Amino acid sequence: MVASHAARVLVASNRGPVSYSLREDGTLAPRRGGGGLVSGLSAIGPDADAVWVCAALGDGDRAAVLRSAGGAGRLSTADTDGQHVRMLDIPADTFASAYNGIANSVLWFVHHMLFQTPLEPVFDEDFRDQWAAYVAYNAAFADALADEAGKGAAVLVQDYHLALVPQLLRSRRPDLRIGHFSHTPWAPPDYFRLLPDDVAAEVLSGILGADRACFLTRRWADAFAACCADVLGASVIRDAGSLTITYRGRTTRIGVHGLGADADFLRERAHRPDVDERLAALQEAVGGPDRKVIVRVDRTELSKNIVRGLLAYAQLLRDHPEWQGRVVHIAFAYPSRHDLAVYREYTDEVSDLAEEINEEFATPGWQPVVLHVKDDFARSLAAYRLADVALVNPIRDGMNLVAKEIPVVSDDGVALVLSREAGAYEELGDDAFVVNPYDIRATANALHQALSVSHGERAEATKRLVAASTALPPQQWFLDQLRALG
Ligand code: G6P
Repeated sequence: MVASHAARVLVASNRGPVSYSLREDGTLAPRRGGGGLVSGLSAIGPDADAVWVCAALGDGDRAAVLRSAGGAGRLSTADTDGQHVRMLDIPADTFASAYNGIANSVLWFVHHMLFQTPLEPVFDEDFRDQWAAYVAYNAAFADALADEAGKGAAVLVQDYHLALVPQLLRSRRPDLRIGHFSHTPWAPPDYFRLLPDDVAAEVLSGILGADRACFLTRRWADAFAACCADVLGASVIRDAGSLTITYRGRTTRIGVHGLGADADFLRERAHRPDVDERLAALQEAVGGPDRKVIVRVDRTELSKNIVRGLLAYAQLLRDHPEWQGRVVHIAFAYPSRHDLAVYREYTDEVSDLAEEINEEFATPGWQPVVLHVKDDFARSLAAYRLADVALVNPIRDGMNLVAKEIPVVSDDGVALVLSREAGAYEELGDDAFVVNPYDIRATANALHQALSVSHGERAEATKRLVAASTALPPQQWFLDQLRALG
């Protein structure tokens, strides 16, 4: 294991590449996670002096930290495909306040513009306690990174959970090269400013502690720059395509790296026997090769707009009764952040609505909606293969990799219905049926058009979607950021 002060490359993120559950006999079951960051880091190989710092998310993770050598949280590389991972055991109440309270109830809501009632958000005493916990949680990351990093190392800090880390780390270790990557959208100043002034300023100046602050699209980068100018009075300079922000005498470069799909991995994984098996089961549920299939796969998360997607599907069946009995909507809505009531309620709403649609329209031998809520990656890939139409209609989304993955994996080409508020729209919009995610009727109409497109047109559009979706695979995405740090 890499000793303290030795790593050359560090990644920091709330969720790490592995998580543990406790078996009944008290042993630990590690589970490897997927996603762009995991594949990205693999580009530098398991032997490199790279360390990934992450938080212990639950009891299993905490037990793994306790049982690690000296309780220091350096996990066994047998559990991590050889990657060096240091997991931080942040006190459970501090973690809950930082993660559920600030990250997922405030910052996520700001960036996705999700506050819905005139009385939201609430900045009371509880919020102030949670904010203090968020500061402590960020400081714990900064301490661990400062401890692990070799002289002049590159540190890639991920996402809204860790917005304060760049600044905190710089004050501890001015020798480091620090990047921050936002995987979410960024809110425009008029919305971002609903945060208390001191909090808004700390979030922005925290990220500006980085040498480079990176985003998935130009739109989110521009919004961040506008917030820095508006809230901090920072000076924003655009020069021949480059964007820099100067604040209190330091300059931060802004980067855009549009993470793409990992085509090699996905295509290989999507043709293994477990996926074939699930494909056969889904085909049976669809009930015949002549029926068209609309697929969506999401975490059940408010920004994904699953309820409006289902309402649009019901509207399609009403407005275009010719589709009744000829189309099936496969919707996978995997539970997410269920410590928070608002997410649990949303999951219930999705299930209830799917049931209602089936009650209203089903006929013997035809179930209009096939909803699954239990996370199953192999089944998601099977649905990707089967899709005639992919429905990706988030209210706002940093990128949305599902929009990129389905064209890559689909067996017979796919027509993409895509929200113009997803980051993926910048790259895929020209070849998709683009919708305003709030407009249910327009979404129903886009579904009709996508279902009606000719096979030839669909094949041509899919080719272009695949090219755009795979332009920056995760390994390249990761290396580009490292290189740009210098
Ligand atoms: C988004 C965020 C990630 C986060 C993921 C899953 O994609 O940008 O940072 O890990 O959602 O959310 P969770 O709360 O389960 O980690």
